[in-house]
Amino acid sequence: MRASGNSLCRRMVWLVVLFGATVQASAVAQNTEVAGSPMPYIDRTGVHPALMVEGRPYLMLGTQMNNSSAYAGTLPAAWSVSKNLGANTVEAPVYWEALEPQEGHFDFSQMDALLLGARSHHLHLVLLWFGGWKNGSPGYTPEWVKRNPARFPLAAKRDGTPLFSLSPFGEQTLQADEHAFAAMMRHLKSADAQHTVLMVQVENETGVWGAQRDYSVAANSLFEQPVPAIVLRAMGKSDESGRWAKVFGVDANEVFYAWAIARYVEQIASAGKSINPLPLYVNAALRNPIPPGAPGSFESGGPTFDVLPLWHAVAPDLDGIEPDIYMSDDASYQAVLQQYQLPWNAFFVPETGNGEQYARYFFATLGHGAFGWSPFGMDATGYVNYPLGASRIDNETLAPFALSYRIVSPMSRELALWNQEGRVVGVAEGAKTHEQSIALPSTESVAARWNAHVWYGMPTFGSGMPASGNKNMDGEALIVELAPDEFLVTGVHCRIDFSPVATRGRGDQRMWISVEEGTYDRGRWKTLRRWNGDQTDYGLNFTSAAQVLRVRLMAY
Ligand code: DGJ
Repeated sequence: MRASGNSLCRRMVWLVVLFGATVQASAVAQNTEVAGSPMPYIDRTGVHPALMVEGRPYLMLGTQMNNSSAYAGTLPAAWSVSKNLGANTVEAPVYWEALEPQEGHFDFSQMDALLLGARSHHLHLVLLWFGGWKNGSPGYTPEWVKRNPARFPLAAKRDGTPLFSLSPFGEQTLQADEHAFAAMMRHLKSADAQHTVLMVQVENETGVWGAQRDYSVAANSLFEQPVPAIVLRAMGKSDESGRWAKVFGVDANEVFYAWAIARYVEQIASAGKSINPLPLYVNAALRNPIPPGAPGSFESGGPTFDVLPLWHAVAPDLDGIEPDIYMSDDASYQAVLQQYQLPWNAFFVPETGNGEQYARYFFATLGHGAFGWSPFGMDATGYVNYPLGASRIDNETLAPFALSYRIVSPMSRELALWNQEGRVVGVAEGAKTHEQSIALPSTESVAARWNAHVWYGMPTFGSGMPASGNKNMDGEALIVELAPDEFLVTGVHCRIDFSPVATRGRGDQRMWISVEEGTYDRGRWKTLRRWNGDQTDYGLNFTSAAQVLRVRLMAY
């Protein structure tokens, strides 16, 4: 339950806060500035990497629209849902087939509709490059690519049957994909001086379904070569003359394919970044975390947890490698968050299910150092991806997501900074987890002073009853350590209390010095009222009322 980080790092973060203006100014200076608006970038000076927007850590309250919704005519149905939800950032595809309908002839109208629409709704964008890979397939490639497999070869199964997936060894495929991606980044550079676009996703869920790799002649001959040193190093192997099958055994096909695709993606990312250095990332269709999915049971070659070090080494122009989480059970969700929360990874969740069972994971995701989270399929175009997500997009479906965003929205910049500093802890209710304890501060190298306790399914009055869990399993809690005995606390359908960690000379009972309900208004805390009496005698009880508390404690 204790988060990663260290005290040295935390002290450095305080220095950054103290001298914030100077540090930010110089950091921004290292990045391209366009028309007075600083370039978004990833700041790695804190406990967790932060997405910097206008020079400050930014919290992405995201939504992603359905795949075919990013056209001028359907965009209004996406903006309206995102606004209802209280999102500040929309993830939207740019389609290769719409961008380059004829080879070498670019049409930027789809991109421009996104830029104009987002701006008029005061939303930021994350653009998703639907290029050579969309869920492993070339569905979004232009007709001139689809119709020319001799020039743009498909991957082949072991028996030679073609797969609906481009081979990453097709040299002209890579050139064409890179050329189109570069055109998109170049257009963005001239059309988006105000940086409506914060990040760009390179391809979408790369890899292949239905085979563990491409078995074409070109692929097979490379598979018989020694494993490149960069892969050996990244994957902790030392067999320098070994071929893939010898070094990686049953995982060889997958690891080989991860190398091939990461290499392809890196070339595209690097070309795009040299034109327009926006933060770039890839998203992953997941390999089952517990127990690990067997080879062949997941999209092979994509950035699954087992090949993250390889992807990171082979594709250094990617700032982040992110999980698309459609596993709603708490053990799997937590496991995935842990797998992708890596010190080098500029981490966020670009896709998660939009069914109500997913809404409770927003705070837990923040607690893993993520700077954003984005439920998928959030538009009113009439399509729903049920049963993966919700069966309807209506107020009832949106309500739990909107509640979490409403709680966090007024303090999103503060929260982003606290997260960069490693002060945020978040938990979600589980099927069998009705009670949780968290040592605070949550950094392992600092002695804990308090234990926070979270219960789900308690009434708001009285004590002594067991926590039975919420009927809809919709509880979540968020705690920020502001100072040694001071916390910001919020939650949904839960009770939160604290107990001191017993140390010599310090009592083991908790006294509330003050519990203030309030809100952040342009960076300043404004108290609405003090909680006391019934409101604190039985812990701090959160319903669906969007309440944020600043709590000062004493041990006696
Ligand atoms: C994950 C993909 O990245 C999305 O584009 C979409 O296809 C969802 N799966 C399923 O709705």
